[in-house]
Amino acid sequence: MNGLPLYIETNKKLIDLFIQDHFKKMDYGKKFLHNKFSLPDAMLYTLTTPGKRIRPIMVMLTAESLGFSDKKKLLPFASSIELIHSYSLIHDDLPSMDNDTLRRGKPTSHIVFGEASAILAGDALLAEAFAMLSDKNYCGWLEPEKTLSIIREIAYASGAGGLVEGQFHDVNSFGKSLNPKQIEYINEKKTASLISAACAVGAILSGKDESVVSEFKRFGLNLGLAFQAVDDILGALGNEDIIGKTAGIDKINQKSTVVEQLGIEKTKELIKEYNGTALSAIEKTGAEKTMLIELINYLTDRIN
Ligand code: IPE
Ligand code: IPE
Ligand code: MG
Ligand code: MG
Repeated sequence: MNGLPLYIETNKKLIDLFIQDHFKKMDYGKKFLHNKFSLPDAMLYTLTTPGKRIRPIMVMLTAESLGFSDKKKLLPFASSIELIHSYSLIHDDLPSMDNDTLRRGKPTSHIVFGEASAILAGDALLAEAFAMLSDKNYCGWLEPEKTLSIIREIAYASGAGGLVEGQFHDVNSFGKSLNPKQIEYINEKKTASLISAACAVGAILSGKDESVVSEFKRFGLNLGLAFQAVDDILGALGNEDIIGKTAGIDKINQKSTVVEQLGIEKTKELIKEYNGTALSAIEKTGAEKTMLIELINYLTDRIN
């Protein structure tokens, strides 16, 4: 193994170790006799189940492509985004949202812990991400204004400026027919915003100026749009054993996706366009591009 696959394997391990150590150190939660689970059990169930860890990887890869490779400094920022992603998956699967029972090859959080506990585990993961980001043991080395801009990027992308706004339209459009622009808007908000923020965070941590940060945001946004379109193709065609989620759930939910609108072939063309725009965004940033290009191909190769 070499190149990007090796990079991903190595850094996934570091991210998972960092998260484990963090929770050990925080020592949250008590178990009451009448409940066989504690809150950390429910938080860690989804968080520590193997996933692609693509968002934290993007924080690290962006920073490293721009010449900053101090893993110890990068890991808390990268991992905090995985906490937010995990919360979003738990809530996304809830009966009142996508009503899904399979995630990362295992029963979804609400199936195991019950709906109320799943909601609370998600809430706690979201809050913990910001506790992690603002922990002086982790961010003490960075200028406070930089930490603030990172927190701002992530908070904005996670809430009304991004993920939650996207999910709001997504769950309110089941059974409705949306046009391609509306679908793209939803995909940008619900998925691409956080991926874009991950790239912005990597660029900020590397100490680059605003113009580089904004090109990396554009890179992440287009990569995120391609990522959601790939996810929709896999959801429509995919093998449950490979994707670890319920195949065909969008059809069951009568969801208007890019695949349902354009068909597979046109969606693949659109993915190529997004990938082209992503690549053009980083052309003039001075970044070492080899692995970033590999990343674009790695994410899209899942449907080839
Ligand atoms: C799933 O994200 C949700 C989408 C935004 C499409 P991932 O495909 O990154 O899920 P994991 O983390 O690998 O399980
Ligand atoms: C992904 O939504 C967006 C978030 C989880 C925020 P989807 O509903 O399309 O993703 P999957 O297919 O369940 O992972
Ligand atoms: Mg959803
Ligand atoms: Mg879903």
